[in-house]
Formats: sequence, C-alpha cells, structure tokens
Amino acid sequence: MASQKVSPAIQKRVDALREKLREHDYRYYVLARPSISDEQYDKLMRELLELEQAYPSLAAPDSPSVRVGGEPTKEFPTVTHGAAMLSLSNTYNEEEVLDFDRRVKSLLGKEPYRYVCELKFDGVAISLVYEKGVLARGATRGDGTQGDDVTQNLKTIRSIPLRLVKEKKGLEDIEVRGEVFMERGEFQKMNEERELAGEKVFINPRNSAAGTLKLQDSKVVAQRPLKFFSYYLRPEKVKLTSHYENLKLLKEFGFPVNEHARLCKNIDEVIEYWKEWEERREDLPYDIDGVVVKVDSLRQQDRLGATAKSPRWAIAFKFTARKKETVLKDIVVQVGRIGTITPVAELEPVFVGGSTVSRATLHNEDYIKELDIRIGDTVVVEKGGDVIPKVSAVVKDKRKSGTKPFQMPRTCPECGSKISRPDEEANYYCNNTECPAQVKARIEHFAHRGAMDIEGLGEAVVEQLVGLKFVYNYADLYDLQKKKSKLEGLERWGEKSVQNLLDGIEESKKKPFARVLFAIGIRHVGAGVAQLLVRHFLSIDKLMKASKEDIDDIPGVGPQIAESVAEFFEDKHNRAIVERLRKAGVQMEEKISKAAKSSPVFGKSFVLTGGLETMTREEAKEQILALGGSVGSGVSKTTDYVIVGEGAGSKLDKAKKLGIKMIDEKEFKKLLGTK
Ligand code: IVH
Repeated sequence: MASQKVSPAIQKRVDALREKLREHDYRYYVLARPSISDEQYDKLMRELLELEQAYPSLAAPDSPSVRVGGEPTKEFPTVTHGAAMLSLSNTYNEEEVLDFDRRVKSLLGKEPYRYVCELKFDGVAISLVYEKGVLARGATRGDGTQGDDVTQNLKTIRSIPLRLVKEKKGLEDIEVRGEVFMERGEFQKMNEERELAGEKVFINPRNSAAGTLKLQDSKVVAQRPLKFFSYYLRPEKVKLTSHYENLKLLKEFGFPVNEHARLCKNIDEVIEYWKEWEERREDLPYDIDGVVVKVDSLRQQDRLGATAKSPRWAIAFKFTARKKETVLKDIVVQVGRIGTITPVAELEPVFVGGSTVSRATLHNEDYIKELDIRIGDTVVVEKGGDVIPKVSAVVKDKRKSGTKPFQMPRTCPECGSKISRPDEEANYYCNNTECPAQVKARIEHFAHRGAMDIEGLGEAVVEQLVGLKFVYNYADLYDLQKKKSKLEGLERWGEKSVQNLLDGIEESKKKPFARVLFAIGIRHVGAGVAQLLVRHFLSIDKLMKASKEDIDDIPGVGPQIAESVAEFFEDKHNRAIVERLRKAGVQMEEKISKAAKSSPVFGKSFVLTGGLETMTREEAKEQILALGGSVGSGVSKTTDYVIVGEGAGSKLDKAKKLGIKMIDEKEFKKLLGTK
C-alpha cells in the first residue's frame, strides 16, 4: 500500500491522541491518580494504532503506541555505558555501617555531610539515555561496562516516560538509571496462571523481571506487569549538586521515584531507617533486600570516588536474609485431585524466617532441571513475602560426587499407573481417575472450608473412609447415614463423633450452588470462576447445556476454563455423580428471591478489604452472594465495589489506581438494604 498523504486534521488528531495517552500513562503510573478507565485508555490507544497503521509516515519512536510492543528482535545489540554501572559493597550489621561512616568522615576531612537513604529494590538495574528529551536507548547493566540494548522492551513499561514531561535548560540530554521489578502480588497471580496452564513458573519476582526483559517478543513483554523506580540522574552538560534534589528532578521529569527515600543528618538516622524498613518490608507490595545509603552532595561523591567495583560514597545495608542453606534429603512426588504430580523437597529441617521448614514445593520437572536440583545437594531455602518456602538455588560448590540428575518417576507412586506429560505442559499427570490419591484429594477438596465446609472431614478421616472403602467419591458421603452403626464400631470413632460428621454432611446440603460448583472440582474452576458461572447460568442444568462458546463469552472466563467445564460434563461418570448429589438434596441452582433481583447488589462484584464492625467478612460475603452479587479476592477492573473496613490494605491503593468505587460499612449496609 502506497503511503497516503497525511492531512493536517489527521496529524492534529494523532498529536492529540499521543498527548492524551502520555498524560494518562503519567497519571496512572507515576502519580497513581488515573482520571479515565482502562477501557477509555484502550479506546484511545486503538484509535492511535489504527491511524499509525493507515499512515506509516506518522511513526515516531516516542509515540505511546510503542507501549504495546513491536516486531520481535533476533538479538540484542551490545551497548557500552557512558559511565560504568558500578555495584554496591554490602554491609550486614551496624558495625560495618559505622565503619563506612568513619571512612567517609575521614576522607571528607572536616566537611559536614548528609546521607540519602533509599530502599534497595530487588529487581534489575537498567540505564535509560534521553536525547533532546526523548528516550533514545535503554540497556541492561550487563557486566557494568557493557549491557544489552533492550530499548524495545523497556518502552513497553508504561511508567518509563518515552519523553520527559518537563523541559529544563541543559537537561535535555540525560542518563537515568533505576530498577525494573515486578510486584509480588502481580508475580504470584502470573505464576498461578502459568501453573494452572501447565506453563513454567518463575522462581521469584526478580528472576521473572530479568527473564522478561530478555524476551525477544516485546508484545509479550507488554503483557507482563513490569514496573520501574528511578534512582540516578546524570546530565550530559550541566553539573548538579545534590542527590536528594536529583530525585525531585526525576519526579518532575515524569519518572517514578520511590516515595520512601529519606534525607538523613547522620549515621544514627541511617540506622533508624534501616531498622524501620527491616520491620516494615512485608508491607510493601514489592521485594526489597536492604537499604541503600548514599552521600547526598554530588561534589562530595566525586571527591570520594570509587574503587574498580563500587563507589566509596554509597553502600548497601542488607537485611538479615530470609534464606538458609540446608540439605535436600529426598524428592517425593504428590498426586493432586486432578492427578497432577508435584515434586516436593524433603529437607533437613532449618529455621528460616521465623519457622522451621522441612518441606518445600519444587513445582515441576522443568523447575528441577533448570536449577539442576539433585538429591543430596545443599540447597538454599528462601521464604518470600508469601511465606511459602521455596528451594531457590543449589550450592554447587558443596555438591558431593556421585549425585545424579533427578528423574521423574514413570509411574504414579500411589496407584502404579503410567504417568504422562501432555505437550506444552510442565506437569505430569496420573491418568487413572480411580487412583486412591486422586480419590482422596477430590473428597478433601469437596469437604474443604472454602467449598462445602464439612466439619470433621479432614485429611485423616478421608484417608480412613477411603481406605475402608466406605466412600469412593464425594457423592458417597451422602449415603454414609446408612453405614452409621458400622462407623460407630470403628477405631477412634464413637456415637457422638459419628453423629457430628453426619450432621456436618447434612448441613452441607444448604450450601449455595456456587460453592457446590467449586467443590465438585472442575479443573480451572476456582471459587471466583464458580461464582461467575453461577451468576450467568443460575442452574447446573443450564450450565450443562451450555456450549464452550457460551461459557467463553462470559467476561472473566477464558477458553481454557470453557474447555475444561465442557469436558467435565461430557464425562458420563461425572454426570452420574452430579445426579446423585442432586438426589441427595445438594443445591444445584441459585435461588433468586424477588428481593435479590431488585437489589442493587444483584450482578455486582465486590472485594472486601479490612475488618468490618458489625459482621465478619464471611457474613458479609454470604449476604452479597445471597443477593446475587459476587465476591472476589483481588481488585481488578471488573470489580464494581471495594468495601473498605478498618485497617484496609494494599487493595485500597489498587482500587484508587483503577478508579473503582469504594464504600464504607454504612454504605454497604444501605446496598444490602439492612439499614
Ligand atoms: S544505586 C553506584 N540505588 O543494587 C550505585 N542501586 O549493588 C548504583 N539497587 O545494580 C546503584 N535499589 O540493581 C541504587 N535505591 C537503589 C537501588 C539500587 C536497588 C541495585 C541496583 C544495583 C545494585 C548495586
């Protein structure tokens, strides 16, 4: 197609769109005060992309359209940094920090000096070069002297300005450095989705950020939740005076600067800062592994200079590690309710991050291969913000001779049938649906607190009942009444405990349909998806009749879920069990009262944060569900209301960012119609 002539009107519209998108990126990512919805943003972006496609001569390297990613890169060119990207020397205790301060003091003679303390972000250091105010090049640190040119990928990070939002004389050509990272919550969400989809999981947010920056397809990078904090500014031409002032300048230029940087008059204040953040690090949505201490005056920084590796004007003051080394005694595999085979590390018990750890998940075969984890190895056990222990590395130096790479078993450890790994998936599965491990896991899931919540039906009881062949599947639970006297005769059981169990099972018949749908354990159908399905189809009959396409059409439900729901109900065996549950009196439809249909809660999605005064969160949830609303665990753009209680957490910030309506307990009760 010959490129078309661009009329002034079109040029004007394109300029206006770019201007608007730039402003919204800045508002959203830097100020955290968005003024339009994601949908409105997407609409503007789509219009711009269409115009740029129709008029290729309009292409510009700093157009916000580069945020969506471009053509894949084959290889990243090597770039040489203008000034070496040094690393920091580490200190681990007050003594070492006081030593550092003494050195600074003696080198500066009698001059007074101040420090700036910053958080030490656990991400990837990058350098951004701006020419005439426009982002010209972005690179990784590499070996400090040379790094990879990953400009294309960095441009997709919406908090990195493509051009400076404010011009200052002499400051059009600058280099900015900072850290690219991923928030823990976003990382976990991404990993959960990957795990569910059988894809390779990332080890931690830092690895995930580093891996993402090296991807060849910037369109994929654009989908990943990367963020950026800047902490360094170096102009080509002019000389600046204070690091703390530079942070303010960076903010004016439109860069995200972490809000917790602090000017400290002396080393005692530095130690205070470190103590404070050692305590509070879990409150942050991203990982930090210490604080960075920098001499504030840039002139003094120059005077102090650097060694070959690190500056003399700064140090990293690290936190006590939440990692420890221990010995991997064995790798066992567990079988989940859909037959997923998960390798688990059996460890020499170690005390780390406040508790003793003797087991840790190893996710899947690829994870073990990637880290080359072998039985007998000394490994690093790490506790992340989520407190779930992980084996994060192998200490290769301590490897004993004669260890062999780990081999996944070829058969299920529980039932002996062959296990297989489908193409494109990271997991192995035991395909025998009668496998006792699967049978037990399915019943445990059914009885679980978040599902049918059957009291007295924990792991040990399920094990016993399945072992004695009293139950094969969860529908059998509702026939246990007939075996009452037999049960009473069993070891560890008496009249009272049997009655309690039977009462619990009876009580579960009142559980709303959404819980039932979650409890029956359809792959990929978590509690949230079950609610969406129920809200849409209202009964199991309608859901069973629905086509894959019908299900896929529901917002928040993807093709994978649709496929899996359809597959579940195609199975004769599953349909028979559902019928038995129905006959037993388990809820198979959503009862919608007249009151619910006319309630403002009907069809709306809620997220709770913080504690409520007049009811528990569980009660609030039940009431919302009873009126045909749904309750999610995390705030997203499909959330309608966030109910804000006492001590609300990070969900509040997210809601603010996304511009979601926030209500307090009083307003919530008004919606419920109870006040
Ligand atoms: S300043 C010469 N500030 O720590 C000083 N670095 O070991 C250069 N880092 O490669 C870095 N947070 O990846 C600085 N607030 C912060 C930082 C920070 C994290 C990382 C950065 C750097 C490494 C130095």
